[in-house]
Amino acid sequence: MSEVLHFPRGFLWGAATAAYQVEGATGEDGRGDSIWDTFCRLPGAVVDGHTGDAACDHYHRYREDVALMRSLNLGSYRFSTSWSRIQPDGRKTNTAGLDFYSRLVDELHAAQIKPWLTLYHWDLPQALEDDGGWANRDTAYRFAEYALAVHEVLGDRVDVWTTLNEPWCSAFLGYGSGVHAPGRQSRSDALAAMHHLLLGHGLAVTELRQRAPKARLGLTLNFTVVDPADPNDPADLDAARHIDGQFNRAFLDPVFHGAYPADFLADVAQHGLEEHIFPGDLSTISAPIDTLGVNYYHGEAVTGHPRADAGNAHAAPVERPLAPPYPAADQVSVVPRGLPTTAMGWEVQPEGLYRLLTRLQEDYSGPAGTALYITENGAAYEDAVGPDGAVEDPDRLEFIRAHLIQCHKAIAAGVDLRGYFGWSLMDNFEWAWGYHKRFGLVRVDYATFERTVKASGTWFATVAGSNSVHA
Ligand code: NOJ
Repeated sequence: MSEVLHFPRGFLWGAATAAYQVEGATGEDGRGDSIWDTFCRLPGAVVDGHTGDAACDHYHRYREDVALMRSLNLGSYRFSTSWSRIQPDGRKTNTAGLDFYSRLVDELHAAQIKPWLTLYHWDLPQALEDDGGWANRDTAYRFAEYALAVHEVLGDRVDVWTTLNEPWCSAFLGYGSGVHAPGRQSRSDALAAMHHLLLGHGLAVTELRQRAPKARLGLTLNFTVVDPADPNDPADLDAARHIDGQFNRAFLDPVFHGAYPADFLADVAQHGLEEHIFPGDLSTISAPIDTLGVNYYHGEAVTGHPRADAGNAHAAPVERPLAPPYPAADQVSVVPRGLPTTAMGWEVQPEGLYRLLTRLQEDYSGPAGTALYITENGAAYEDAVGPDGAVEDPDRLEFIRAHLIQCHKAIAAGVDLRGYFGWSLMDNFEWAWGYHKRFGLVRVDYATFERTVKASGTWFATVAGSNSVHA
């Protein structure tokens, strides 16, 4: 008999999506273009020219989707609002766009599902990109205004607010490597974007806090748990330090400690980051937060020695040349460790999640009194559809189970982890990979938009319903 691991009472079970990845209806009710609409039209930017124009048609099927969530025993739904639906030109509010989220939130409440709202999941209004995008400091102020406009209408019914999802990706994949929208390839723009994203977060938290002292405010970061390929090799240790600095500490330190790490600033010194940091910015960025969202998919081992078989977890098979994503990419190679990998080529490394959570608790969130939530974890696999339409996806189920066991272990070790959101509720538009990668607990047939709960989804419903997992 396997051991049953019980989670603390009130542990929040949910699933996540993002506006551009699921909504579709990109031309309806006054929505303007976002940078992803423009980027998808760029030849060779997204595999097979896929776009989010129809996506999962969630905009029209949200009622059916909320019923699906109910059937999966979800206590919360993490979704994002589309800035260009709400402010098509990045400035003026479009009531028809906000109405969609109002309907969605009402539907969630009626199903007793807690709305977990993310204000920015990568879809900047194109009009703001035309004015310089996140490389322009003004965008941070526009973001805080947008946050207030959304709060004005939804603040009475939503009490958990996440400012940004994975600002590392917005900055370094969007403005550095160019694999994501807006597709710029400039290290100095990427670093400026990073700072302005963090500033936008801090400004929005400050404004929302004043407006709604009881709201739970936070942000979601993506973390890389990095190991030196050879722990006795100084070059590998330094490579690991570079990655930890440029993925993890460059975001955690300003938010929790009010300063960029000194070694990170030295690493990127020639790219002009410091000229964008104005007096007072870091105290704005370090405004206290209630929740830190943890997105964890994989770790990696790195070396400081060049390798022919170096991996790159941030590439995509697109038909345009990509730049190295982050400044240290020239000095660092990822060393495949022979671990099993998902369809994204990402190593399956559940124990990295335990190490990550205990580190966050000790060095960042714990001392600040900030609660941790897994806001994304999950895996893409090549799902096989049976003749009866059923999807048996044991790899995904085992992936999630293995990570939940690590969550449980972290809680037992004293980590203040209060919830887990699977990525994703349903298959969706996986950015530069288009619809080729499926992360859903629910399968989407893109020809008919039919939803089918996968075996992993049925299993997840029992986990959420029983607040426990079999180890
Ligand atoms: C993180 C992002 O937040 C989400 O949009 C994406 O689909 C997943 N990772 C999987 O790559």
